Amino acid sequence: MAASKQGSTELMSDVKKPLEIAIVGGGIIGGFAAATLSRLPNSKVSLFEKAEGPREAGAWIALTEAALLTLSRIANIEEVQEFVYRGKPEPLSRRHWKTGEVLKYDTSSFPRPENFVQARTHRVPLHNFVLKHVPEGVIKYNHAVVKIDVDISGGTLHFENQDPVRADLIVAADGIYSRIRRQFRVNENLEYKGVVAYRYVFDENLLKDVHGVLDDTSSWMGRDGTSVFLGKVGLQKYGFVALIPEPPNVASDLAWNRSAGQRGISHLLHYFQEWDPLITKIINVLPDILAFPLERAPWLHDLTIGDRIVFAGDAAHPTSGVYAVGSSMGFDDIWALYRALSETSTKSTNDDSDEETKYNLPLSLFLFNETRKHFLQRVERQTFIDGEVKRKYLNVAKDDADWQRRLLNTLGGLDWVKEHNVELEYQKVRDEHFLKIYT
Ligand SMILES: *[C@@H]1O[C@H](CO)[C@@H](O)[C@H](O)[C@H]1NC(C)=O
Ligand SMILES: *[C@@H]1O[C@H](CO)[C@@H](O)[C@H](O)[C@H]1NC(C)=O
Repeated sequence: MAASKQGSTELMSDVKKPLEIAIVGGGIIGGFAAATLSRLPNSKVSLFEKAEGPREAGAWIALTEAALLTLSRIANIEEVQEFVYRGKPEPLSRRHWKTGEVLKYDTSSFPRPENFVQARTHRVPLHNFVLKHVPEGVIKYNHAVVKIDVDISGGTLHFENQDPVRADLIVAADGIYSRIRRQFRVNENLEYKGVVAYRYVFDENLLKDVHGVLDDTSSWMGRDGTSVFLGKVGLQKYGFVALIPEPPNVASDLAWNRSAGQRGISHLLHYFQEWDPLITKIINVLPDILAFPLERAPWLHDLTIGDRIVFAGDAAHPTSGVYAVGSSMGFDDIWALYRALSETSTKSTNDDSDEETKYNLPLSLFLFNETRKHFLQRVERQTFIDGEVKRKYLNVAKDDADWQRRLLNTLGGLDWVKEHNVELEYQKVRDEHFLKIYT
């Protein structure tokens, strides 16, 4: 058995040498990768982040059932409750843009423990929480990766200001604008999705004099595809999100995490004057507004390069804000990778406890890619189908009543995305390839 394994796995690391893993990008997914992969025996994990320290950015983040489940595999789910908010009576109410009437509640597909029901939070506490689980000394700030070379014995990371670093495995978690993805997919540009996200998270007490603020998380849906999300996001903060179709010339002036200031707020007041008056009341107390264009590029079908690089999170599936599953899809990428590396290591396959654990990168990366690609391709396809549904079904409603009826039909699905269970998907793949792993 040992002989056939060795024969097929030239890229196994040396007996004494730990598996060196370099993660690029210290955001939520890079942090999650560092926390999770650091649990692998006989491994050495480094995370390279270009900023000088953890940076703050105030976006609202949905934690879906899938995200909470995967977070719970590395962290105590009770602790997550401290920085999230779950709307009552159901986690999300869908409201009519003008009347504010609830058209539908979003619920889980089956009753689950409250801790595992979708909730809202914001970027800063989630980021801090993930970083808290990263062992000391793993994160290297001030390291801007400019280029990666891959050869037969490993990868080399080149930095703006430091000496190159070698690694056995590189995890690219450098976000939607991933420099590493662009290095390997040179002709591919991000395209504007036609929608600008206006967002802000602020102290709940700014709302104390606003009459009629709701205690739930609500989404007001408009006939042209505009939607507004309002609700508490945990830790005494309140979140505002408006997704507005805007012409490209408006979008091109904006960038991620940049303030649109008083001009942005005036624009929102004007835009929403006919909508449920509660929205205007809340816009009136916004201290500031961030606005950025939602962009997308084709998703990677091969999530790996040369058995040495793995893409995860927005670097792998670059679409901002799709179905509010940005965090869960990134966590799930990492969980699939962790499971594949663990299970194909000698610790799992030949239980010789005296021997230092060795890893099988080609087989791990194959199992990782198999676990993720079918689901991701299906989600990407759904984004195109939804565009068609909007054009050919929603937008041709003859009046408001007809539109409401059609909207409700479109809101009937997507639990398969929000409640995806990557562990089960991984098991499906490993059961299929059991003999490849264990003989
Ligand atoms: C976002 O902008 C704020 C305010 O300008 C700044 O303090 C913060 O570091 C920025 N965050 C990121 C991730 O760029
Ligand atoms: C990942 O999947 C893609 C698409 O099917 C395939 O072309 C590629 O070879 C796979 N990569 C690995 C490492 O198995």
